[in-house]
Amino acid sequence: MERTLVLVKPDAVQRGLVGEILSRLERTGLKLVAMKMLRMDRGMAERHYAVHRDQPFFEGLVQFIISGPLIAAIYEGPNAVEVMRSVMGVTDPTRADPGTIRADLAQDTRHNLVHGSDSVENAEMEISLFFNPEEVVG
Ligand code: RTP
Ligand code: MG
Repeated sequence: MERTLVLVKPDAVQRGLVGEILSRLERTGLKLVAMKMLRMDRGMAERHYAVHRDQPFFEGLVQFIISGPLIAAIYEGPNAVEVMRSVMGVTDPTRADPGTIRADLAQDTRHNLVHGSDSVENAEMEISLFFNPEEVVG
């Protein structure tokens, strides 16, 4: 069974959009199997976004993701990676399809409310960064 890591980012917590976003994620029908609230530290953020280390937006991205608490969750089900990314919409909210979380609610490319793993392989790595196996309870 496929699993994906979801983050409801600090802008969503700060703007009071956690319930709205989790409701949309829940409507995918995927099974919620783990969830926690935490504030990422710099080391964790740099590991999570290591693939973007050499990008000009990297420092701003890290600063943003550590700027406040966020929600981390694992969802499980058929095509979980693709299903979650499709309800989130593409990175830039101005280019995201209407009806997606980012198109409907996000402010800009940095403050785009949610993260979803982009492959099964990355999902496994991200899950192990955020959760111990015994925290997966679903
Ligand atoms: P995420 O990893 O956060 O789920 O977002 P994503 O897959 O849609 O986008 P990705 O390419 O992985 O980029 C990670 C985050 O970096 C910021 N970003 N800024 N050109 C830019 O200024 C730019 N490109 C990416 C976004 O906050 C994106 O979510
Ligand atoms: Mg990504």
